[in-house]
Amino acid sequence: MKAVLQDLCPPIAWRTLQRVKVSVMARARAQGGGRTQDLDVYWDPQMAQVLETWGDGNVWDEIQFLFVNCRGRVLDIACGTGKTMAVLSAIPLIEVHGFDISDMLIRKAVDRGLSQDRLHVADATKMPYADREFDYSYSIGSLEHFSDTGIDQCVREAARVTRVASFHMMPTSRSGRDEGWLKTYQSFHNCSVKWWAERLRRGFSEVSDLPSKWSDHLSVGTWFVCRK
Ligand SMILES: C[S@@+](CC[C@H](N)C(=O)[O-])C[C@H]1O[C@@H](n2cnc3c(N)ncnc32)[C@H](O)[C@@H]1O
Repeated sequence: MKAVLQDLCPPIAWRTLQRVKVSVMARARAQGGGRTQDLDVYWDPQMAQVLETWGDGNVWDEIQFLFVNCRGRVLDIACGTGKTMAVLSAIPLIEVHGFDISDMLIRKAVDRGLSQDRLHVADATKMPYADREFDYSYSIGSLEHFSDTGIDQCVREAARVTRVASFHMMPTSRSGRDEGWLKTYQSFHNCSVKWWAERLRRGFSEVSDLPSKWSDHLSVGTWFVCRK
């Protein structure tokens, strides 16, 4: 049935249908685990602007240190406007691919000159990649916005598509307590380093943490280095 429909549809209409399907299914999954992930914000042009500057002087320097001695294929999970991918183009031996649920943000990534062949509109809880297709993967400022169920599914998928190691940068609570699901401009989990390490260990055998320079009044940034 799917093959017949694909034959009947012009390619552009088929791609649009697939994007709508990805978005609707992600919305349904985002309701899982008792929390509602607010996805509409990722189609807000104001958010696209925030994503252009938020990591200056902190995570965008730090990720270059993490990758400086790496080589191979790398996946940016929930890449937004592709700003981090552009920063990593300074590292010669890696080839960075990315995907995001928001077609609006992916369009911005294409507009900044990143290769369209390396970008997809896709759902992090169901990645359209083969097992071990990437040597490394990473996410920045993204997993904390997923529902409980979404975090587990994304961690499982990150482990499936990654061969060596996966780096994840999250805000962790300043208080050191598991404060749960907070609502500010975006909803997010504000939890302890221990809480996140335990979630990541569901997909990876070794998880260590490093402090990031990023912080705000509720949270401090933490990098989690996860090995298969
Ligand atoms: C706060 S933004 C961070 C974007 C980017 N990593 C950066 O550092 O600029 C969170 C990103 O997660 C994406 N996102 C949320 N849920 C997703 C899902 N289920 N699958 C893929 N991307 C998702 C959003 O569209 C948004 O781009």
